[in-house]
Amino acid sequence: MAQQEDVFKKLVSHCKEYGFVFPSSEIYDGLGAVYDYGQNGVELKNNLKKYWWDAMVLLNENVVGIDSAIFMHPTIWKASGHVDAFNDPLIDNKDSKKRYRADVLVEDQLAKYDDKINKEVEKAAKRFGESFDEAQFRSTNTRVLEQQAKRDALHTRFAKALNDSDLEELRQIIIDEEIVCPISGTRNWTEVRQFNLMFSTEMGSTSDGAMKVYLRPETAQGIFVNYLNVQKTGRMKLPFGIAQIGKAFRNEIVARQFIFRMREFEQMEMQFFVKPGTELDWFAKWKETRLKWHKALGLGDQKYRFHDHDKLAHYANAATDIEFEMPFGFKEVEGIHSRTDFDLSSHEKFSGKNIRYFDPESGESYVPYVIETSIGVDRMFLSIMAGSYKEEVLENGETRVVLTLPPALAPVKLAVLPLVKKDGLPELARTIIDDLKFDFKCQYDEKDSIGKRYRRQDAIGTPFCVTVDHQSLEDQTVTIRFRDSMEQERVPVSQLRAIMAERVSYKTLFKQLNG
Ligand code: GAP
Repeated sequence: MAQQEDVFKKLVSHCKEYGFVFPSSEIYDGLGAVYDYGQNGVELKNNLKKYWWDAMVLLNENVVGIDSAIFMHPTIWKASGHVDAFNDPLIDNKDSKKRYRADVLVEDQLAKYDDKINKEVEKAAKRFGESFDEAQFRSTNTRVLEQQAKRDALHTRFAKALNDSDLEELRQIIIDEEIVCPISGTRNWTEVRQFNLMFSTEMGSTSDGAMKVYLRPETAQGIFVNYLNVQKTGRMKLPFGIAQIGKAFRNEIVARQFIFRMREFEQMEMQFFVKPGTELDWFAKWKETRLKWHKALGLGDQKYRFHDHDKLAHYANAATDIEFEMPFGFKEVEGIHSRTDFDLSSHEKFSGKNIRYFDPESGESYVPYVIETSIGVDRMFLSIMAGSYKEEVLENGETRVVLTLPPALAPVKLAVLPLVKKDGLPELARTIIDDLKFDFKCQYDEKDSIGKRYRRQDAIGTPFCVTVDHQSLEDQTVTIRFRDSMEQERVPVSQLRAIMAERVSYKTLFKQLNG
């Protein structure tokens, strides 16, 4: 665990040191849970968005995109349920004056029971060596059973309190479990209160009677309220989808784990409108399609898993998360939800407008059902960085840090490096860049030894380094060095474009989606 935390710390500082992610407003000591993307981060993020967008809009004839505004009519958030129910339960410690999410305090307590159990298992494993039977130990050891019973009882009580939205019971659990504030060390807790996660601001001047508007907490509602516009103007027939990428805002109270939980973040959401009764088949299909999309990146199939929801939101009839193994455990990266007709019906009711779909085949009008795929760009970014970050010990004993990013996503595709800063080598390197820069993001670097320059490119995940040497002047060939194998090959300059095009194309990823 400590080792994993260590990896995570290294990853966060790597992101900063190599221009991927900076804390927002850093010279003013930062702004909690808000981050900026640097020169390499923005390239990776844009490439990632393109991978998602094209996989949705280019590869599916019946999926189109939109870009709706962040500000929307405030009644939309009444209809969606966000005004009344998009809450976190908060509790304050009266001594430290610190505020916590009550549910997170209890989750941390559950994790403590798990830790205790795991420690017992680890100790026993060491003691018994190879003959250790973990399953048997877990089911018979009295200390383990005692902790497990306490954990299970807490879990049942906690799940019921959440289900019933019983805030008093939630507080009572914190008291009974003797949970203390990590800062003051006391149990002097306030009541638990619901806290709405939406940011609000005012639109129009006060003399006009300003209107309270919200910064959208999800992009999905922009799709729902445009569903009929798109359906009619695009002459779309069910089933069809609408995709959107955009910013979302949530006033997260427990904001931790770097860009995993942010207050300003980006979502890539797709609402797929289907005939009622067919939604569970489509849900299964999109589950499979989305997992393939993730796995095609080659970060390792074992790093992904589904987490099907036992407890469904009142409007859903199926839901799952795609989780990725982050350095701090398996965590949700994407949600796939079968949302029934909840959102569209609710907008129909609140707006008073008919937004039914006329089915030309059956001659009926009905409110379509919706399958939603919803993924956070920033979480996806973090998963790619975590899955690609490697520290390798080389044959000569040196270590290198390398990001084994899929070439299509790498911020820089090609570095062109003159071996020395003279004899016409820089000029030839520049000519190569001038030729290739229309198609690929290239970088020129002439400073330091060639080894150091390779390391700099490895650290930002550049898949190819082209070295221009004296032989290049004679025969118009260069060496191309491959990031992952570190092998080098001499190739004619005239072939560079074709070599690159083949390897950095999104097509290599998309082809895996069809299989
Ligand atoms: N429209 C459905 C929806 O918004 P969600 O599970 O609340 O569902 C979907 O969010 C995805 O958005 C999550 O799987 C996660 O990747 C991302 N996300 C949610 N809250 C986030 C936050 N505070 N910071 C970063 N990403 C977040």
